[in-house]
Amino acid sequence: MGFFDDKQDWLEIVFKNYPPENRRAAVMPLLRKVQQEEGHVSPERVAEIAEILGTTATEVRGVMSFYSYYQAVPTGKYHLQVCATLSCKLAGAEELWDTLRAELGVGPGEVTPDGLFSIQKVECLGSCHTAPVVQVNDEPYLECMNRERLKALLEGLRSGKRLEEIELPGDCGHEVRKEGA
Ligand code: FES
Repeated sequence: MGFFDDKQDWLEIVFKNYPPENRRAAVMPLLRKVQQEEGHVSPERVAEIAEILGTTATEVRGVMSFYSYYQAVPTGKYHLQVCATLSCKLAGAEELWDTLRAELGVGPGEVTPDGLFSIQKVECLGSCHTAPVVQVNDEPYLECMNRERLKALLEGLRSGKRLEEIELPGDCGHEVRKEGA
C-alpha cells in the first residue's frame, strides 16, 4: 500500500495551494509529510511522490538534496547534526564530529544499536556567531558547543531527558551582534 493511498483528502487540500498545471511545485509538503511520519524518505516514497506529481524520482531527490531535514535512510531517535561550514569548522566542529563518532561508534547513515542516535554533517545553520553549532532533530540550535557540552548532551539524551531539561556546562560566551550594529 502506498503512503498516500489513504491521504487523498489531504492531497486535495495541499493541491489547492498550487496551480493545477504545476503540481510539481507541491513536492515540499509531500516530502515533509513522509519525513514527519516515517522518519525518512525511502526510494519507494520518492518514486510514489514523483508519480503523484507527474515528475521524476531524480527531480524529487534533487529537491531533497538541498535540505538536510530530509533523510534518505532511517535515523536514530536523536539525529545529531553538526554544522561543518567555515565558522563552525574554525571554532572546533571537527573535534565535535570526532567526539561524536568515537562516543557513538557510528558514521553518517548509521544508527546506534539501541536506535537512539545518528549523526550528520550539515551546511551552515545560520548561527555562525555562536559557532560551533549542533542541532538535534529540528529542535532549537545548541550553540558554542565543545566536547564537555556535547558529552553532557549525550548523557542527558541517553537518560531520557527532554532537550530543554538538559543542562549544558558553561556559558555561550560569544558576543552576539546587535541588530544594526
Ligand atoms: S557556519 Fe555553522 S552556523 Fe554558520
